[in-house]
Amino acid sequence: MGEYRASSAPRRISSEERERILRDPGFGDNFTDYMAHQRWTETEGWGEGEVLPYGTLSLEPAAAVFHYAQEIFEGLKAFRHADGSVWTFRPEKNAVRIQNSARRLALPEISTEDFLASLRAVVSADEPWVPTGGETSLYLRPFMFASENFLGVRAAHTVDYYVIASPAGNYFPRGVQPLVVWVSPLAARAGRGGTGFAKCGGNYASSLQGKYEAAKAGADEVMFLDSETHSNIDELSGMNIFVVYADGRIVTPTLTGSILPGVTRESILTLAADRGLRPSEDSVNYEALTADIAAGRVTEMFACGTAAVINPIGELRDEKATWTIGNGGSGEVTMALREELTGIQYGRVEDRHGWLTRL
Ligand code: COI
Repeated sequence: MGEYRASSAPRRISSEERERILRDPGFGDNFTDYMAHQRWTETEGWGEGEVLPYGTLSLEPAAAVFHYAQEIFEGLKAFRHADGSVWTFRPEKNAVRIQNSARRLALPEISTEDFLASLRAVVSADEPWVPTGGETSLYLRPFMFASENFLGVRAAHTVDYYVIASPAGNYFPRGVQPLVVWVSPLAARAGRGGTGFAKCGGNYASSLQGKYEAAKAGADEVMFLDSETHSNIDELSGMNIFVVYADGRIVTPTLTGSILPGVTRESILTLAADRGLRPSEDSVNYEALTADIAAGRVTEMFACGTAAVINPIGELRDEKATWTIGNGGSGEVTMALREELTGIQYGRVEDRHGWLTRL
């Protein structure tokens, strides 16, 4: 397919209001004028793609998504370059990931062609919403859910796919400042054989109690340990983690099946190797990690994801102690990787790996 029928509906937000929002977009609070939509049915497969005015969806209370959470989503960004052109970062990775998520949640796979076409359709309709300047972007949120009305437990025969867009600045309200991370004593985000590798709403729902615990402990984020042994670090509520060692190693937890395979995570492994660091995927034992932090063998930690980009972690907090990482500030390696990644995304640094796609 690969084509989306454009909307002839007028914009819902005035240009003055849009300019006001774009001056300080925050994260995830404002939505654009349009959205892309495609419906799948068991009998017909995927229907025609269409661009619709952004607005409410009408679903019956019996829609399966409300009962069995058969839902998946993606996150990627459109970046405006200095010459006004608009680009996105490694979208084919998100296409493959949504296909993997779809298989795990028994949802229909959307082709890479249709996925890319849906992003293009929204960005071309909402082009004035792609912010200019600073580290702002238009965050794109493709998502797919079971919209058939029934109460038995089975995969739905009607599924809707949408892409909405939201202008974005910093994910964290304090900006790019070292995070305090709470290490959840009991809760795990995902278990072996479960859905941890898929980008489905359920994984994020199961992180919310931990986020609540974190807020009570005065922390910005929560870190989950693996559900089986409760001894190795997995990821944060919606971000992957890296640990930087004094000897040049830079380690992120291995993709065990319960960790989201982040596009930013994978890009950092490449950028770190380019810089002569020693990146690897390995298990990171929490007790060993805190001992390494205390002994100065771990100098930096950071969180990474599409929304979070790369954000330093200054402190870990658990039920027994607080661990300050390095001097508690923003580490040199962390910030250099951040500068390079965002440099590529915004067209300031040569795209030597061919990661950008023009929208
Ligand atoms: C993203 O980084 O794009 C996500 O989907 C995670 C969420 C914390 C916004």
